[in-house]
Amino acid sequence: MASPPPAAGSSTGPPRIALRDMTRADIGPVRPIESAAYADAWPARAFESELANAFARYRVAVQTPAPVPSALVGARDRLAGWLPGWLGEPLTRLLGGPSRRGIVGFMGVWYMVDQLHLVTIAVAPEWQGRGVGQRLLLDCVNMAVAAELKLVILEVRVTNARARAIYGRFGFRRTGTLRAYYRDNDEDADVMILDLTPEAVARVEEVHAEHRARFGARFVGDAGEGTT
Ligand SMILES: CC(C)(COP(=O)(O)OP(=O)(O)OC[C@H]1O[C@@H](n2cnc3c(N)ncnc32)[C@H](O)[C@@H]1OP(=O)(O)O)[C@@H](O)C(=O)NCCC(=O)NCCS
Repeated sequence: MASPPPAAGSSTGPPRIALRDMTRADIGPVRPIESAAYADAWPARAFESELANAFARYRVAVQTPAPVPSALVGARDRLAGWLPGWLGEPLTRLLGGPSRRGIVGFMGVWYMVDQLHLVTIAVAPEWQGRGVGQRLLLDCVNMAVAAELKLVILEVRVTNARARAIYGRFGFRRTGTLRAYYRDNDEDADVMILDLTPEAVARVEEVHAEHRARFGARFVGDAGEGTT
């Protein structure tokens, strides 16, 4: 699992987090994060079939080293293109590129007619409380807005105070309860939706602005240097 950021004052600066689509090669590092988060974790083949599902999209939050000068990025990527994968990947990582081993969180959604269903979201325990979960959720809402969907829907355990607090901050509201939805302990699930009205989207933009102010320097694309 990825190591937490070094102490303040480190000469290399804290690593930053980038969001990108999940690939099959990411399944290995994602599974321990999922197992730590969920009592009923999926087998690897469930992720494989999800990644092959045209109506699903999975994203990972990946730790990257501190920014490197753009001239070096160009040279690095050209060199990595010449090398075989087993050599190019470590070189890319060493010189500041995204690392599969640095995955700190992930989420998955299903596109369902006019709504986006948040199927799963989890952050590695040692990375929780650093804004990664909210950043993944912002990505989820942005995907729904970009696809011009009407709403985002999810289920959450009634006892999951942390997740519920985040969903509430984003403006999700409870629309119903599924009795004994979770098979490990027969816990109820609340169904929550976020109607993507202009007001709701404006509220999420405010949440993003607050998140940028608190954590922007830590997330690639949130410190004004481009998009994720
Ligand atoms: C839910 C989860 C994805 C959040 O990820 P995260 O990276 O810790 O989230 P963030 O750091 O962005 O935000 C955490 C917020 O929850 C708040 N929080 C933490 N514990 C809380 C609690 N017991 N009650 C209420 N709020 C709580 C924090 O205060 C923080 O808000 P703040 O930054 O304003 O202080 C993560 O905790 C996780 O992986 N949980 C296990 C899997 C899970 O429950 N997934 C959701 C299924 S519906």
